[in-house]
Amino acid sequence: MRHLITLDDLSNFEIEQIFRLADQMRVDLATWSGFCQGKLLATLFYEPSTRTRLSFESAMERLSGRTLGFTDPHSASVAKGETIADTARMVTNYADLIVVRHGCAGAARVMARYASVPVINGGDGSHTHPTQALTDMYTVIRRKQKVQGITVGICGDLRYGRAAHSFALVIARFGGTLIHIAPDAFQMPDWVVSRMKHLYGQEPLEADQLTDVIKELDVIYVNRLQAERLPRDINVEVGRARYLLNADVMRNAKSDAMIMHPLPRVNELSFELDEDPRAAYFEQSANAIPTRMALIASLTGLEELVLTQPPTREISVGDHLCDNPNCVANYERYLEPEIETLGGQQITATCAYCGAT
Ligand code: CP
Repeated sequence: MRHLITLDDLSNFEIEQIFRLADQMRVDLATWSGFCQGKLLATLFYEPSTRTRLSFESAMERLSGRTLGFTDPHSASVAKGETIADTARMVTNYADLIVVRHGCAGAARVMARYASVPVINGGDGSHTHPTQALTDMYTVIRRKQKVQGITVGICGDLRYGRAAHSFALVIARFGGTLIHIAPDAFQMPDWVVSRMKHLYGQEPLEADQLTDVIKELDVIYVNRLQAERLPRDINVEVGRARYLLNADVMRNAKSDAMIMHPLPRVNELSFELDEDPRAAYFEQSANAIPTRMALIASLTGLEELVLTQPPTREISVGDHLCDNPNCVANYERYLEPEIETLGGQQITATCAYCGAT
């Protein structure tokens, strides 16, 4: 049985296999429509969502499966203090597959540990959003045919934006060049940069202003400020103007650049760009359906055809709790600390739940 907790759970070959399947499903849904007949997907959303939850539910139902779950944790027994472990043990009895979104980094990993059905991470705190990154990369490949060699600028709140973390990591892994565009307070966290370096040999450039680098970019990936995760002492206004993307800024961009955004947008991506042929963000959210259908099918029936080359990771018990206040290990107190060792020339140890170095 396989889970998708971060994209480190899939090899490059497996990601490409999922994209091949997504292509088939996109053009010929009828062939696949009965694939999940009689199967149930549980969607456990401890945090709000429009795209992730509804596209997973749509994907499951297009495969003739059914869905159950909650969208408000106050209506579930977590409000009475139930742990993630016990929730996982219960939902295993009710469903064949679980998608979970949670406010703590590493929560999906905990759910996978205690569930005996495949678990998909639908976003865990300010850590990762792997299925968003699958959709994003699929969208890049559909427009650009490749990731290798393209220059991707990721701008906005890179510190707390989980979609930005997963997208940056997958682009680095497939050979794209990254520029991280944000003021210091919102720059990419060390744990992401460290993984890029140790796993993929990449050292991304940093820029303070989008206008300084716009001419170089093949992909401009905009993120909103993660207002729900910001510490109280951060001045939100400091960051906003530096990366507002509007028609004026896009005048200096390449004619075939792609504008991407995981959505929802707030005020960092101007509505005037919606008709610009370079805008790819609605296409990006539409691509969530074939990619999530392909992922569901891969985890629930096609494992032996699609998921054939699992990556190896070095994980062991740690000797102290993680320092990251958003890490699940600091809330679910039955968990033992675990560390992941990243290889390469310089060995580094990271929290296996939240990736913190
Ligand atoms: N992109 C994304 O995760 O959107 P939702 O929060 O609406 O699911």
